[in-house]
Amino acid sequence: MKQVNIAPCHAEIAAQIRHDIGQKLRALSPEKEFRAAIVTDRNVEKLYLADVQNSLAGAGIANVVFVVEPGENSKSFPTLEKLIDFLADQHFTRSDAVVALGGGIVGDLAGFAASTFLRGVRFFQMPTTLLAMVDSSIGGKTAVNLKAGKNLCGSFYQPEKIFADLETLATLPADTFADGAAEALKYGMICDEKLFALLGSGALQGDAEKIIARCIEIKATIVQGDTFDRGTRRLLNFGHTIGHAIEIASDFTVSHGHAVAIGMMEITRIAARHALCAAGTAEKLECALQSLHLPTENFYSVETMLETMLNDKKRHGDTLEFVIPKQVGKCELYPVAVHDLKRFLTK
Ligand SMILES: NC(=O)c1ccc[n+]([C@@H]2O[C@H](COP(=O)([O-])OP(=O)(O)OC[C@H]3O[C@@H](n4cnc5c(N)ncnc54)[C@H](O)[C@@H]3O)[C@@H](O)[C@H]2O)c1
Ligand SMILES: [Zn+2]
Repeated sequence: MKQVNIAPCHAEIAAQIRHDIGQKLRALSPEKEFRAAIVTDRNVEKLYLADVQNSLAGAGIANVVFVVEPGENSKSFPTLEKLIDFLADQHFTRSDAVVALGGGIVGDLAGFAASTFLRGVRFFQMPTTLLAMVDSSIGGKTAVNLKAGKNLCGSFYQPEKIFADLETLATLPADTFADGAAEALKYGMICDEKLFALLGSGALQGDAEKIIARCIEIKATIVQGDTFDRGTRRLLNFGHTIGHAIEIASDFTVSHGHAVAIGMMEITRIAARHALCAAGTAEKLECALQSLHLPTENFYSVETMLETMLNDKKRHGDTLEFVIPKQVGKCELYPVAVHDLKRFLTK
């Protein structure tokens, strides 16, 4: 078992931790009587809900369950409203706890509900995808999607604790596992050359506990220094400006992690062409991505990318912010003026 305690992030990573969740919540709860509302999706429900419920029951914690359909459509206001109504119908109080059991979709939705219902009830994350373990459950961003774009409405609300059960990774489809590996590799590129090398050498299969704990530590450290996303936290967007454009251009048929992989590769090639990074950086990234079964080629034209980026709702005024690598293990923010964007992307 590994622990990360970098306030506001507190995480435990271990195989089979789902079987101990009852005792763990009990140990963290001053109230003798409290209930848990487990929020999960249909896939995770079939695999892991019973284990979590048994563990809660064993610790004398009553639970209710709210199940959503898998997919981004569930990260919506209609589903959020149903979930909040459900908590109200169950007469949930501030001493009761929302427990997100699933991937980033369930975590983002449940976190938003927990942050707003009664102006905030207790909240725990039990991430079951690699992406949720290394990324979305950490840092306190919650969200639903709007018609205007993904993640445009949400809050900052930290879970009291994150419990990552490594055993749940075994049932992930290979592509979904690879999505999480892309975000893990991102941390290596941003600030940890050793992590990058470990991931590229296939260590994620044998040493998941150590690697996931290191990823959480990195994200937690960055978030601690910039909880509200005003500065260094934006380094976490490495690969995301272009990745986001690919997701949109593909109408979200390219998954987030795969789009980020291509985005990291593209921006690194661009940085190399502009002589902004050390020689060999792009080649090292390409090898690592390939070994993690992630894509490295962008099939969209510069025109398509430009159009999508310029319409990005998160754009700041007349510049677009990229994160560029200086070398493996070191990145920096790099604003590009909109009028210079085409030259920047195509040179
Ligand atoms: N809050 C943040 O900081 C943050 C950061 C990154 C991404 N996100 C969000 O996270 C979401 C993506 O998260 P995700 O990649 O975990 O997707 P997801 O929640 O859709 O899960 C992926 C798929 O895997 C299934 N699944 C989950 N756990 C499983 C398991 N153990 N075994 C088998 N199947 C399992 C799910 O049912 C789903 O079909 C996006 O909405 C994204 O915007 C949020
Ligand atoms: Zn991401």
